[in-house]
Amino acid sequence: MATKRLANLPGTTDRRIDALLTLLAENSTIVISGAKIAKEIGVTRQQVWRWMEKLRAIGVRVKGHARTGYHIERVPDILAPQMLSHRLYGTPFARRIYHFFKTDSTNTVAMRLGEAGEPHGAVVLAEEQTIGRGRAGRSWTSEKSAGIYCSVLLRPPISPVQAPLLTLVAGLAARDAAAEDLAALPDIRWPNDLLVGGRKFCGILTEMHAEPDRVHFAVVGIGINVNQTKMPEQLVDIATSLRIETGKFHSRLELLIRLLRHLDRYYNQFITEGARPILRRFAQVSSYFEGKRVRVTTAIETFTGTTAGLEPSGMLRVMRDDGHGIECVLSGDVAEVS
Ligand code: BTN
Repeated sequence: MATKRLANLPGTTDRRIDALLTLLAENSTIVISGAKIAKEIGVTRQQVWRWMEKLRAIGVRVKGHARTGYHIERVPDILAPQMLSHRLYGTPFARRIYHFFKTDSTNTVAMRLGEAGEPHGAVVLAEEQTIGRGRAGRSWTSEKSAGIYCSVLLRPPISPVQAPLLTLVAGLAARDAAAEDLAALPDIRWPNDLLVGGRKFCGILTEMHAEPDRVHFAVVGIGINVNQTKMPEQLVDIATSLRIETGKFHSRLELLIRLLRHLDRYYNQFITEGARPILRRFAQVSSYFEGKRVRVTTAIETFTGTTAGLEPSGMLRVMRDDGHGIECVLSGDVAEVS
């Protein structure tokens, strides 16, 4: 398929703001004059001033002004493509990173990119989503710059029946990335909700374009609650963030880099070795793999039972309480019951 170049996707962050952020981060301890910044990134001093105001508005702590020079008090935790790209060198995610200060949904943008022929590995990031989407038509609360809202475009050489494994791959990557930020080990509730202390802090929405025997592309959308200090009222009992759990601020940039590096590793393992190592790893890190009492809600029914491992395709096996034997669940909501 011909690739239409969409690097100037409407609404993406101006590459010069990206350059400005990198410049500030790389010179975080010194004062740099407005004139020097303007020269380096090729804009006027007035433009530098306007962008500094914009960065302040989203919480970047910039001190000073055009005449005295600027410096930042702390390296900004903005998911700026240039900084990410350097740190993701050697992975397919380093090449095409689209960043938005605000967009409707990174999954929607990535699906559009996929349809336009964008290559494997494109990453779409947003500081804020206005219509963040969750599984089963639910919404995903996307507070500005508090969480990670990331969608990755993949072109895996697999058939649609293997697609649930991609979802497990992404869940494992997010789990390993977040584990470094937590004292308690995160759990994976099949297929890929990440939980800590029984509450969810990360969700994954996989969407794809496929023919019966071939996946054209898949978009894996990952939402992680990172620095939210409180959850919306209706979610308090079921959702949490890394900050709520640890009482500490966490770098979204560092977490995202770990996430994409782990994703690269698990994805390559899946493509070269198949499902086995992925299923083995899932068995090690998810308490839902086997022997968990659950209530399963699918599009057609709700039943209770006990989990009994995964099928080679990634489907969850559940021994039903009603005597109808093992059920293989392709998609649905799974909740622990006591
Ligand atoms: C779920 O658990 O219901 C899945 C939530 C997935 C949320 C992420 S945030 C980034 C990407 N863009 C979206 O609109 N959704 C996913």
